[in-house]
Amino acid sequence: MTAAIRVSVVAFDAYGTLFDLASAVRRHADVVGPGAATLAQTWRQKQLEYTWVRTLAGRIVPFWDVTVAALDYALATVPHANPMARDALLDAYRSLDAYADAVDAIDGVLARGMRVAILSNGDPSMVAEAVRGAGLEGRFHAVVSVAGTGAFKVDPRAHRPVLQRFGIVADEACLVSGNRWDVAGARAAGLSAIWVKDRKSTRLNSSHEWISRMPSS
Ligand code: LAC
Repeated sequence: MTAAIRVSVVAFDAYGTLFDLASAVRRHADVVGPGAATLAQTWRQKQLEYTWVRTLAGRIVPFWDVTVAALDYALATVPHANPMARDALLDAYRSLDAYADAVDAIDGVLARGMRVAILSNGDPSMVAEAVRGAGLEGRFHAVVSVAGTGAFKVDPRAHRPVLQRFGIVADEACLVSGNRWDVAGARAAGLSAIWVKDRKSTRLNSSHEWISRMPSS
């Protein structure tokens, strides 16, 4: 845990933190077949790999394109996963379930008088749709995408939009993420960051314990 000096903005990561990535495959598990769990894992791993490789290569495309390419890879390589599920899975990805504790976690930060945001690799339209679909509309001071920075997280360029949006410096922001690599990237860029380890079993508002120890401005 990085000690924050004056955190005034808490930015939640979207996919894998507020939104349950596994919910897309879970909804269509019958159609996908016995390979469903491996498909979900491969889809996510490939999606992240593509974001990192594209960032390193300077070949950024919209996060949606990366997501589609990763699913196509997973469907082509994972045994016992029915490719006929492709369109339904992509539709489901646009309206993932929020984790049951998302609302409490956001409201808890708001109750501390801090501003709340999303900072996501997701394209603005994807994230807006996810927020709407999960009934989280109106809860954020800003929903911020890395789009337009020429990078995906963990590149430090990807953290700038949230700092710019609020007119703050890095140590005034804290990223909350279920993705360990995301936390590493945020810290490298000078933000505070809280890793919510294992979203299956750890409640997001366990982050409040840390947030409550941060002197806020
Ligand atoms: C996001 C990716 C990391 O929401 O899932 O930024």
